[in-house]
Amino acid sequence: MLLIQLTGLSGAGKTTIAKMAKGSLEKLGYNVELLDGDEYRKHLCKDLGFTRNDRIENIRRMGTVGLLLARHGIISIMAAINPYEEARKALKDSGASVKTVFIDCPVDIAQKRDTKGLYRRAYLPEDHPEHLTHFTGVSDPFEIPVDPDLVIKTDRESPEQSSERLADFIVKSIQKM
Ligand code: ADX
Repeated sequence: MLLIQLTGLSGAGKTTIAKMAKGSLEKLGYNVELLDGDEYRKHLCKDLGFTRNDRIENIRRMGTVGLLLARHGIISIMAAINPYEEARKALKDSGASVKTVFIDCPVDIAQKRDTKGLYRRAYLPEDHPEHLTHFTGVSDPFEIPVDPDLVIKTDRESPEQSSERLADFIVKSIQKM
């Protein structure tokens, strides 16, 4: 039916908003699958790291699953950082039923939230055993989406408001198909 590729920094709220929107859409009777970057990196994408090539491959694989599900009447919501325009564009161009949603949050706010404690590790000295290299927004790029179908600013609204806007956008997109 539809594939939504979210894109945004770690801690921007992608998974939270996707889970809440999934709940709202299921109440309306839709079939929804959440494809979460952290989860996929435990199985289908287990061999991948965080280089540009690996991140692009990660999105290609998750996108392949999402498109397959979408073709069978399911709403797929992909929650991965998805930092490169090249990967987002390739997925977007693969079907009219793909929408890009930018979960926008300034890096300083995401750092303050630091939901997984990863920003703290990214800022540790390089020789520290817990130091994280190539961390998006700190020591690795995040390319601002060029032409997203929807932008949700999670520093300006509550998770409830953000997830309702995402769910509304999905319902309207389906109605237009
Ligand atoms: S993506 O860039 O390939 O789209 P994905 O969303 O699958 O990334 O995975 C990001 C998750 O991996 C983060 O939420 C975080 O938990 C973890 N992670 C570990 N190392 C890094 C890193 N260097 N940069 C970003 N995320 C990392």
